[in-house]
Amino acid sequence: MTRNPHETSGEPNPLRALDLETLRRRTSMKWRTHPEDVLPLWVAEMDVPLAEPVVRAVTEAMELGDTGYPAGTAYAEALAAFAAKRWDWGGLAVERTAIVPDVMLGVVEMLKLVTGYGDPVVVNPPVYPPFHDFVRNLDRRVVEAPLGGDARIDLDVLEDTFRRITAGRGRAAYLLCSPHNPTGTVHTAEELTAVAALAERYGVRVVADEIHAPLVVGDARFVPYLSVQGGERGLSLMSASKGWNLAGLKAALAVAGPEAAGDLARMPEEVGHGPSHVGILAHTAALRDGTAWLDALLAGLEANRGLLAALLAERLPGIRYRPGDATYLAWLDCRALGLGDDPAQAFLEHGRVALNSGLPFGSGGAGHARLNLAASPEVLEEAVRRTAAAVERAGGVRG
Ligand SMILES: Cc1ncc(COP(=O)(O)O)c(C=O)c1O
Repeated sequence: MTRNPHETSGEPNPLRALDLETLRRRTSMKWRTHPEDVLPLWVAEMDVPLAEPVVRAVTEAMELGDTGYPAGTAYAEALAAFAAKRWDWGGLAVERTAIVPDVMLGVVEMLKLVTGYGDPVVVNPPVYPPFHDFVRNLDRRVVEAPLGGDARIDLDVLEDTFRRITAGRGRAAYLLCSPHNPTGTVHTAEELTAVAALAERYGVRVVADEIHAPLVVGDARFVPYLSVQGGERGLSLMSASKGWNLAGLKAALAVAGPEAAGDLARMPEEVGHGPSHVGILAHTAALRDGTAWLDALLAGLEANRGLLAALLAERLPGIRYRPGDATYLAWLDCRALGLGDDPAQAFLEHGRVALNSGLPFGSGGAGHARLNLAASPEVLEEAVRRTAAAVERAGGVRG
């Protein structure tokens, strides 16, 4: 197992704090979509208690009745300080940020700024399914430039795609997922610099979804797209939502590179009315005071990656799992099990364990499933036990 530079003392592993009985009292999507006998390891919610600074900030707001509309730039200032310390990036300028309701609505707003009706938006499947859905819903055209077999951006494919979609026509955008959901790929500075050069050459605007940036483990380093040479025209979406499990406390930040400041300035002011004031208080507290909690989480996630790899090797060697360096998601290649295009359906039906189907992730998703690692080691063990039982019952090959 690789070293975790974030390992800290004192803070307990939040992934071990809650038992299943407590978690089943939750009313969010993860816990209420399936019946009680199903073990849920699908949608990106974590089985953790909140970081204490977040609880304090929200509790104080409740006690004070501080539940009005958002004001000020505290969220952006906290993110800028976090970025400087964590990613060694001093280039996040508060005046080139804007609050947006959440990351996906922020993506939509950024795409509206740099593309028009029917314009192409490039994505790298397999990728977070809303990348397809939101782009289509915005009346833009999704163009796939699949990741390579190594789960990294294939620069030749990307260049061919950029060339094809820009030949003789107008605007185009590239929706980059960095780090990448579902593979956990952390793009390197070299890769991102090459992406920026291609974007420049073909006049494609880059919108980077960097929501998983705080969730990088081991020796890998997150590189903000706007920090690389050529990234100045980029737009990024950042949030504390995934890192600290705050999806129900809606807020995110749009960040513009120096040469995209004019674009961000055109975003309608009303968009900034969307985020929750309490959400912003929570996200700000997380970024400012929640790093010890985050480090404890990352250490727990790294241990879970190792555990999952060991459990699969022992009980389901037919599943191919390459642990990524970021996110709390595991992308499982189940094609050798012989369960068809949607193994997650078989796991659910025959094993009462809910993973995400790979199909909505676009090209490369068939025969795959996504597992959410942000659970206790006991839940992970039970999930693998149920999956193995499902394969047997469905007449598949465990490997
Ligand atoms: C890559 C990516 N972007 C966006 C989101 C959703 O973020 P939000 O709830 O802020 O729209 C997720 C959630 O899992 C995600 O994985």
